[in-house]
Amino acid sequence: MKIVGGSAGRVLAVLIARKVGLNASEAEIKRFPDGEKYLRVDDDVAGQDVVIVQSIHHTSDDLLFEYFLLCDTIRGLGARRIIGVLPYFAYARQDSQFKPGEAVSFRTVAKLIEDVGTSELFSVDMHQHRVGRVSDVFNIPVHNLTAAPLLAEYVRSNTPLERPVVIGPDEESEQWALAAANAIGADHDVLEKKRLTPEKVQIFTRSLAVQGRDVLLIDDIISTGDTIVTATKMLKEQGARRVIIACTHPILAYDALARIYATGAEIVVGTDTVPSPISHVSVAPLIADAMMRFLRSSPTLLEYVADDRN
Ligand code: R5P
Repeated sequence: MKIVGGSAGRVLAVLIARKVGLNASEAEIKRFPDGEKYLRVDDDVAGQDVVIVQSIHHTSDDLLFEYFLLCDTIRGLGARRIIGVLPYFAYARQDSQFKPGEAVSFRTVAKLIEDVGTSELFSVDMHQHRVGRVSDVFNIPVHNLTAAPLLAEYVRSNTPLERPVVIGPDEESEQWALAAANAIGADHDVLEKKRLTPEKVQIFTRSLAVQGRDVLLIDDIISTGDTIVTATKMLKEQGARRVIIACTHPILAYDALARIYATGAEIVVGTDTVPSPISHVSVAPLIADAMMRFLRSSPTLLEYVADDRN
């Protein structure tokens, strides 16, 4: 088995490879003078199962195209099977037509990822708001892992929590609030949110039992930060003692981080699915563990791990 990172997956590829006892392979990725991408895989992948790690954040189109080049090249070199690891899966939020004629980008991206030769996919807290199950979008097996327990444990080990309660800023975030609450033995609840524009949300007041308590506010993505800023202000108005913020994917568009700290939030933590100043929790162990479970259910792959370790 081989593990190779795209330009937004090199660090995670090395960390995941280390966890499963392999060395990551390198792909040469640069640009032609006209801006087009050049890619070369100088490794013997014929007959192998190849894991491609690429987190699709910020320059999403560019990084997706690079994933397509990697996948197609590796398939062309005779790889047996391609396992995509896309820790942050861009375009998942555009999972419906909100206005007639809009692209349903999530489905288009999923289709392209499959068409280019991905046999199996791992992702972390992939946004699935209006999509019930990943199998409604993908025809290949998808392992959607959650980093919520890791984030909650990080918070607990970095600050003593006074009567903690975990809050999700909208209904969809209940899954993360629940997983985080279970990890630290706390209660959980969710707020109600209405998105007004891509940059603006409205959060509805609910009478929550947060008075005098430490709140861990958790979400999958912090993009503009408006969800977290609006929710934090509301929680403070409701008497929360402290609001600590965690998210899996710290996209942090514009001045999101400054706006969040300006609310008085003490700790803001995210994972390394998106490298950022708050990416203190690595998803490498989470992905490596899931991959090892997958390898154990696929004995031929385990053989490769054993061979490459020698
Ligand atoms: C939306 O449903 C997501 O779970 C996040 O709440 C959202 O992406 C956050 O976006 P923003 O930081 O721009 O409010």
